[in-house]
Amino acid sequence: MSVVVLISGRGSNMQALIEAGLPVTAVISNVPGAAGLAIAAQHGVPGRLVPHKDFDSRQAFDDALAKEIDRFSPRLVALAGFMRVLTPGFVLRYPERLLNIHPSLLPAFPGLNTHERALAAGVKLHGCSVHFVTADLDHGPIVAQAAIPVRPDDTAASLAQRVLKQEHALYARAVRWFLEGKLAIENGTVNVKGNDAQLVFDDSP
Ligand code: GRF
Repeated sequence: MSVVVLISGRGSNMQALIEAGLPVTAVISNVPGAAGLAIAAQHGVPGRLVPHKDFDSRQAFDDALAKEIDRFSPRLVALAGFMRVLTPGFVLRYPERLLNIHPSLLPAFPGLNTHERALAAGVKLHGCSVHFVTADLDHGPIVAQAAIPVRPDDTAASLAQRVLKQEHALYARAVRWFLEGKLAIENGTVNVKGNDAQLVFDDSP
């Protein structure tokens, strides 16, 4: 029942999963020197590097990544700030076993710069989503969402900070549900057995 986490940088979501006591058995980065690798090492979790720059094609990179993941035979592969688009072949290899955390209330604002785009759109509610990964970027079945209000004086940085705090709690909860076998996907919709709350609203400062 282990989890392999894929990262590209800071690794704060990865750290939150480890510190929540979840069985993270390896952390794999596609970026040399990613700060998250050092954090994993501090927690005694093995880190591996599969640099995408060493490969000529997405396919070749994804094959090498899958090979590294499979050495750990994880039940779940959790993307946490992993900044690579995965090939459909890679996604098919881990059916309903790939989760991602995204810093917006999907389906709003897939892709990058979500906080800037939320401000520019004038939305009053923002947040983050944990979803299953499909070949369609940031569009897989949504497991859980945490929402926060957008305040008149918010900046992209202040939004990012409040959303990130929600991400850490939400991702750990969703991964735990997964490992406990509580997630059921039906017609593209995720239900949690036992009626756990799939929506969090936090309007604390
Ligand atoms: C997070 O906001 C995550 O939602 C997004 O990239 C950021 C990664 O942060 N996909 P960290 O590496 O987990 O600190």
